[in-house]
Amino acid sequence: MEETLAILGTGRLGEALVDGLLRSGGALPDRLRCSTRRPARARELTERFGVKADTDSAGAAAESDVLVLAVKPQNLRDLLAEIGPKVSASKTVISFVAAVPTGVIEELLGEVPVVRVMSNTPVQVDEAMSVIAPGRFAEERHLEMAERILGRVGRVVRLPEEHLDAVTALSGSGPAYFFLLAEAMIDAGILLGLSRDVATELIIQTMVGSAKMLRDTGRHPVELREAVTSPGGTTIAAIRVLEEERVRAAFLNAIEAAQRRAAELAGG
Ligand SMILES: NC(=O)c1ccc[n+]([C@@H]2O[C@H](COP(=O)([O-])OP(=O)(O)OC[C@H]3O[C@@H](n4cnc5c(N)ncnc54)[C@H](OP(=O)(O)O)[C@@H]3O)[C@@H](O)[C@H]2O)c1
Repeated sequence: MEETLAILGTGRLGEALVDGLLRSGGALPDRLRCSTRRPARARELTERFGVKADTDSAGAAAESDVLVLAVKPQNLRDLLAEIGPKVSASKTVISFVAAVPTGVIEELLGEVPVVRVMSNTPVQVDEAMSVIAPGRFAEERHLEMAERILGRVGRVVRLPEEHLDAVTALSGSGPAYFFLLAEAMIDAGILLGLSRDVATELIIQTMVGSAKMLRDTGRHPVELREAVTSPGGTTIAAIRVLEEERVRAAFLNAIEAAQRRAAELAGG
């Protein structure tokens, strides 16, 4: 990557990005700057990654081409007030801040290209699902830049911003649904007399294998499920119970509720 990049607010997400970009060769330490609120956290980042890190977000913004906003929503206004005087239309702003529309950032920073990202926690293992949406002033080249950066830590899809609440509900919160499922299935193993360790290993590997089949074969989930559902067998006995318990409807209702909540949060 030729651009210089500032991660403004380097917590869990920011650190996962720094780690992913450096490991994959997507950025060199001298083209990457990080800012935090606490000096001790900045020192930790410099020691761990060899990047320049300090509490001077305005300085980092002035010196960098790409500004990654990675603070919590409640800290965004302070950050934007600090960097505002250093941000011009020649910069690209990439915002990871949940529930904050690009319009709010444009209002506070002026006519600058903003790309909003909804990613998810597997960013920590380079398997993020990131969706990017352009603000009013973002052009093709800004989206391409965001794709290049995020492509280093997972997959990237472009969508109009109006879909981001749905994305938040589906892939943003998605890891939590899978973790809950894993938890429930591990408990089931324990109920059937297996040790927690064994049940955990069985379920994790089954999840990873199933996810890889879905992704790598490109076959429809129904087709893959039918392949393990033999007539009169064990799987169909379990599926009957899942259907009786309305698990499918529960997922539809749950994800719709998450979308409603995302819209409420984005609205104020
Ligand atoms: N975690 C994820 O995988 C993930 C995934 C998708 C989206 N997101 C979004 O990414 C954002 C960050 O989430 P997170 O989990 O990384 O939060 P986090 O761990 O709390 O990190 C936030 C960081 O922002 C810093 N900060 C706060 N105010 C600042 C300011 N005014 N100037 C400079 N730095 C400031 C904090 O510094 P100190 O540590 O020094 O206080 C902290 O390092 C959120 O909006 C979240 O919704 C996170």
